[in-house]
Parts: sequence; structure tokens; C-alpha cells
Amino acid sequence: LCAENGVAQRVLSKVLAEIRPTPRDEQALKGFSERIIELLGKAFPKSEVDQISVEGSLAKRTWLRGREEVDVFAQFLPSVPKERMAKLTVGVASEVISSLGGVVKLRYAEHPYVEGIINGVRVNIVPCYRVEPGGWLTAVDRTPYHTRYVRSELSEEAADQVRLLKAFLHASGLYGAEIRVGGFSGYVSELLIILHDSFLKLIHEAANWRPPVVIDASKSVLDEKQREKFPSAPMILVDPVDVDRNAAAAVSLQKLSEFIILSKLFEARPSEAFFRAPPDAKMPQEPGMRSIVGILFGLRKARPPDVLWGEILSTGSGYETALRRHGFGVWRWEAWSDESKVMLLYELESLSLPQFYLHQGPEVHRPQALSFIHKHVGSRDTAAGPYVRGERLYAVKKRHVRTAADALSQATARGEVAVAADLKDELATAEILQDLETILQRVGEDREMHRFIVNFIGGLPPYITHLSE
Ligand code: CTP
Ligand code: MG
Repeated sequence: LCAENGVAQRVLSKVLAEIRPTPRDEQALKGFSERIIELLGKAFPKSEVDQISVEGSLAKRTWLRGREEVDVFAQFLPSVPKERMAKLTVGVASEVISSLGGVVKLRYAEHPYVEGIINGVRVNIVPCYRVEPGGWLTAVDRTPYHTRYVRSELSEEAADQVRLLKAFLHASGLYGAEIRVGGFSGYVSELLIILHDSFLKLIHEAANWRPPVVIDASKSVLDEKQREKFPSAPMILVDPVDVDRNAAAAVSLQKLSEFIILSKLFEARPSEAFFRAPPDAKMPQEPGMRSIVGILFGLRKARPPDVLWGEILSTGSGYETALRRHGFGVWRWEAWSDESKVMLLYELESLSLPQFYLHQGPEVHRPQALSFIHKHVGSRDTAAGPYVRGERLYAVKKRHVRTAADALSQATARGEVAVAADLKDELATAEILQDLETILQRVGEDREMHRFIVNFIGGLPPYITHLSE
């Protein structure tokens, strides 16, 4: 165990040397954030904005080299109406970002904020209310308290352990609470290290987790009680700043399970590969026999990523339901988007189904038995029956939809796919890609889309890719 630990430690110090910002970078970034705060301080009226502060990973010393980001919060007095707060922030922040030569982006879903890219560094300017704990007025009012908590609990060395964890999660696509990812946020990463002391200790614990995972970071309330508060969450991490909140509410069962298996893999064979982007998947020799169908559609209007991905994921599972209803075995599906088009891919048991299927009716003693007979006898699509076999009624029925492509077209045309109304127009012109050959032809020059398809065919998550080499 000791020797293995030695190997792991060597891996971690090598990785850390790559992901820890240099003192010079750190100085530059801090100077830059101070300049922004100074400009914002001059532009916001003091009677409305009580304080302007650096929050996020820069304030907590947990950002990764190459992923620099400045999160600045304007803390408003609670007396300022929300509309005024939003309008003022958008106006002032856009002005300050532009004056520094930055490009402004406005793409928020629920809470207003302004994002800018200045000299390649992302700057988020976020309004919140300066309130006492428990008196939260918006979703981000806890943030200054989160920052304070992490700064008081996380030592310099432990901050580096957070960096290792974040890089580890990034490399495997598990980092981020946004809907597209459904993974671990920066704050969750910080809490996990605060609770387990080091990256290796956390990994050792996580390798033995079994969902639902309940961790009480507040150390004040019984686990059972907390679990009752969040009945369906796969992971419960009680927020020490607010015991009524699950800090890990965004973590999906999928991503939690991936983190568990990833921890087992790392423990068994520690390697730097777990912290790096995996090599591009290669197109397999003979992918032609696989039963893969796709849907491709363009987006005509822009939406915030969380809104778009909420719609993409619900549409994706709507098509899955439609395919199953038609009798197709759906093994898995995945979605891709570059925010101007969307592709959904499904791997099925088969692309087409037999002409006839066995329709199982009720047992003869059931009250519905007679209505089953009346419904199916003499019906145009009844090929045989209805008849009794054992104690049950059956009929052999003709299928109207035999191919997966037809099932998808029909689901689209009839509006059967439970999509957000917002996406309906764009889906109406969706292309149904009937097999893998069609999918590959359609991709053409789009490299990102091609990569998505090759990865889908391989079906290997990033953290298993390097084991297959
Ligand atoms: N935050 C929030 N609600 C969100 C997103 C973020 O309250 N939906 C707050 C969090 O408290 C976080 C801060 O905003 O501390 C900054 O968020 P983010 O940039 O996502 O996380 P960081 O901790 O800065 O991590 P990093 O930027 O390195 O990913
Ligand atoms: Mg940040």
C-alpha cells in the first residue's frame, strides 16, 4: 500500500506542477481583478451597492492554470428592487468590460449576470444581495458566505488538493454543475477536500461509495433527517452555510457513478492520464453493422446554455420513449451541440423490427377480457386471433412502423416527443439519419461533430480510453 501511495504521490506532484498557477500569473490575475473592482466601484452608486468583492475560485485559491476566471460580485442592499439590480448591473458591467477592451456576453437563464472576455480571461460580474444567512433573496446570495467558509477551512496545501480534484473531474467530463454536465461544482470539490483532507483520501473513500451518498458537511444534523429533506438526490452534501440546502443537488446518478468507478480505477493504477484530455478516439474497422440512428437539427435562435441543454436532454429522452413504445430496444443515447446545431445518437438492438408482433392481452378471468376480444377481432391489423393460450388472451398484430427512422419521423411529425415548446419549430425540420452510413456522410467537414460520432461509436468514457491502448 505504501509503495502504491508513493506512485500516486509522484503522479500528483507532477500534475500539480502543471496545474498550479505560477506566482507571477497569480499576481497578474489579482492585479487585474483589483482594477475591475476599482472601475466597478466608481460606476455603481454607493447608495445601492454596499460592496464589490472577488468571489469564486480566484478568492478561494482553487483555480486551475489555463482556466483563469475572475468572478466579481456586486453586493446590493436588500432595499434595491430586483429589476433595478439587474438593469444597473447589465449597464455598468457592460460598460466596464468594454472600456477594458473586452467582449460582452449576456446569456443568463435565471439570475442576471454579465460575462466578458478580456485579454483571454473570462470575467463574470454578478449581482447579489447583501443579506444575513437564511434571509436569501436570490440563488447567489450565499456565495460570499461560501467564499468565507472555504477560505477559513481550506489551507494552502488543501487548496492544491482541490486543484487536483478539479483537474481530475475536468479530464473525465465530471466537472461543473451546469445542466449539460450534471456534475461536481467548484464548491462541492472544495467541500469534499475540506471533509477528506486530501485528494488521495477522498478517492479512497469514494471508491467505496454506494449511492445515495450522504455527507453532512455541517456536522450538525443527523444523516437520516437530512436524507428526508432531499428524498430523491443521489448525492447529498449538506451545505455548511445553509443546512437546508444540498450543495450537491446538481450531481446526477450518472456522474456520481462515473466518479465512483473513476476513483476505483485511479486507486488500482494511479497515472497522469487521469488528469489529461484523452486522445481522440479512432474510427473502428467495421462500424457498419451497428444499429445506430441519429437526429440532426439546426438552432435558429440563441438561448442560454442551461436552457438549451435542458431542452436537448428532455427531447433526447422523449425520442427514447417513442422508440421504446414502438418496440425498439434502446441501449444508450447521447447528445451533442455546438449551440448552432444539435445531434442526438441512439444505439439500438436493431434498426428494423419484424412485420408482426405478439400482442399480449389480459388473463381470461379479468373484466377487460371481452373488450380485448372486441377490439382486436376483425381488425385490419390483426393477423391472427384473438385467441386463448393457457389462461391468457393474445393476438398477432401487424406493425405499422418497422424502422427506427420511421418511428423517429412519426414521433417528430406528431409532436409525440415531449419537448419544451420552445424547440418545436426547429425540430419540425430535423433530419432523421437512418443508419450509421448516413450519419457519417452527413457530418462532412464538421470536426467536432465527427469527434462526437466516433466517440459515440466507441462508447468508451475518457477515463477508460487510456486503459484500452
Ligand atoms: N455560484 C452560484 N450559483 C451558480 C453558479 C455559481 O451560487 N449557479 C457561485 C458559487 O458559490 C461559486 C461562484 O458563484 O463560488 C463562482 O462560480 P463558479 O465560477 O462556477 O465556481 P468557482 O468556484 O469559481 O470554480 P471555477 O471557476 O474554478 O470553476
Ligand atoms: Mg469561477
